[in-house]
Amino acid sequence: MTPFPERVFSGIQPTGNLHLGNYLGAIVNFVALQKTHECLFCVVDLHAITVPQAPNELRQAIRKIAAAYLASGVDPQKNIIFNQSQVAEHAELAWIFNCVARIGWLNRMTQFKEKAGKDRENASIGLFAYPTLMAADILLYKATHVPVGEDQKQHIELARDIAQKFNNDFSESIAANGYSGGFFPLPEPLIQGPAARVMSLRDGTKKMSKSDPSEFSRINLSDDADGIAQKVRKAKTDAEPLPTETEGFKGRPEAENLVGIYAALSGSTAEGVLRQFGGAQFSTFKQALVDLAVAKLGPVGAEMRRLEADPAYIDSILREGSRRARAIAEPIMGKAKDIVGFIR
Ligand code: TYM
Repeated sequence: MTPFPERVFSGIQPTGNLHLGNYLGAIVNFVALQKTHECLFCVVDLHAITVPQAPNELRQAIRKIAAAYLASGVDPQKNIIFNQSQVAEHAELAWIFNCVARIGWLNRMTQFKEKAGKDRENASIGLFAYPTLMAADILLYKATHVPVGEDQKQHIELARDIAQKFNNDFSESIAANGYSGGFFPLPEPLIQGPAARVMSLRDGTKKMSKSDPSEFSRINLSDDADGIAQKVRKAKTDAEPLPTETEGFKGRPEAENLVGIYAALSGSTAEGVLRQFGGAQFSTFKQALVDLAVAKLGPVGAEMRRLEADPAYIDSILREGSRRARAIAEPIMGKAKDIVGFIR
């Protein structure tokens, strides 16, 4: 039996607009998990500054993520909604993990390679160390489950490696401090649902992403009904009708993506959607997808705009959430320091 009670942690970077991938891959699962688990949902502003951010835009972006959590139905009383930079222990534990993780491990991280691009020498040290901070986010609360999209899997695996190495490197000290079964849990990724990897609307082989130069590649939570309709209608497809079985998606990534999006928005599965739409032309299916997307996303976008018009309210939620997060983090950080051999 694991000595660690179940706790959920996840985070989203306040960079650019939130898109359908963030919503279906992450936020929808947060809303479901709050029913069964103790959850912390973070706005990871320390991660955002691993690439340059304009201060005023960053502040707005932090509020936007908090507004998205609230507008999607995450309850700020039941869960903890906060921003990372208000809990100093994130950076503190990340430093210890920088001394536990190996350069070779970080060199293998695909996100760093993608984000640094060709000019690696000019990337910030923060961008390289990004995954150790992410491990600290999770382990600072001894979180056991981390709901994320597919693209974060490698990072969670690294967090497990760091937890394991810390537990091994300090095993004697951990035991001397009265712990059995390790100090940190090995967190598990929760990568769930038919939209764990939402693809670009322009190219079914590329992930939907904030950094894609084409606005038509993604649906943003802030898009209005017309914008959503336009983007769905323009989405790349092929000439065949929809298949009747999921095997028919072979070589048809765009069809698979749109069906996955429909399934996630309607709380169904790809199989379920094909039972309804298998054999239909894309024109028919796209119209149904527009109606569904507008019905599901429209109210979230409207509520986000309403909340964003009251920054003082959002800031008060983040401040109170940060206070509650600190109350969990401080004793764990204190023990980690004892284990490493610091005096406090
Ligand atoms: P970020 O801000 O890039 O994305 C936030 C969440 O959205 C998911 N996601 C997607 N899911 C499906 N399809 C897509 N196309 C898609 N694009 C993004 C991401 O998987 C993520 O769940 N490193 C993290 C933030 C982070 C974090 C953490 C997450 C920092 N510390 C601790 C969990 C736990 C990131 O950059 O997510």
